[in-house]
Amino acid sequence: MSEVKENNTNEKHNLAVKLGFPTDEGCHSMANLLKDCLSNDDVKQMYSEWGDTGTYDKSMSNNVYKGPYLVSKAVNDNIPNKNAKILDIACGTGFVGEHLKKFGFTNVDGMDAARGMLENAEKKSAYQNYICSVIGEGSVHGIPDRTYDVITISGGFGPGHITLEAIPEMIELVKPGGFIFNITRKNHLNSFEEYKDKWEPYIQSLEDAGKWREISRTIFRNYYFEKDGIMFIHEQVQ
Ligand SMILES: C[S@@+](CC[C@H](N)C(=O)[O-])C[C@H]1O[C@@H](n2cnc3c(N)ncnc32)[C@H](O)[C@@H]1O
Repeated sequence: MSEVKENNTNEKHNLAVKLGFPTDEGCHSMANLLKDCLSNDDVKQMYSEWGDTGTYDKSMSNNVYKGPYLVSKAVNDNIPNKNAKILDIACGTGFVGEHLKKFGFTNVDGMDAARGMLENAEKKSAYQNYICSVIGEGSVHGIPDRTYDVITISGGFGPGHITLEAIPEMIELVKPGGFIFNITRKNHLNSFEEYKDKWEPYIQSLEDAGKWREISRTIFRNYYFEKDGIMFIHEQVQ
């Protein structure tokens, strides 16, 4: 049984790699593949290769994927302290880090599960510290609670990506009164098993439990190609 799953996964993985994800079509195909069967380990491996080859940066330019700029601009609009301690989760090849640097932020760390992506970020000196870790598996990342003023996530929530259950772990990493800026594709939240019918009740349950408070949610047209994005800003209130 497990052999069948492995073969199936490898086949889909090879197909995804073959697609190279360089085009819109490739990226959408990847989303379908992920939806079907890929675990977070598969996602990690695929992104590592995508990052390593430099294909990610070519196919996810500012023209087609606006998440990194939009989330960085929102931080700039809301956080006056340029020395705020910021963690960019699922940082990939460092797009958010680069934008934040342009806005004058000086104290930004990057975390990603895929080493190939993170290495690319390091080549660009996008962050101060590079943390190769999965968010959502307990404190394997080794970061003490309440370390950061701000967390950013751009494109980190999607099929096979960050789980809902990782959110409390993120909240723990933020200082009381700090903020979480999260932008993702709007349709991801109601079309994939991970989040469908669960996203809204889950984030509300954390608010009811007094862990965070929603400050705003904003829809962005053409966030990724013609797809809408949604950005949530939450305040840590524990
Ligand atoms: C679409 S990319 C976004 C990268 C970057 N934030 C950007 O906007 O270009 C998604 C990233 O999430 C990372 N990722 C997925 N699940 C993760 C998890 N549970 N913990 C940490 N990183 C994760 C992947 O390795 C990948 O680099």
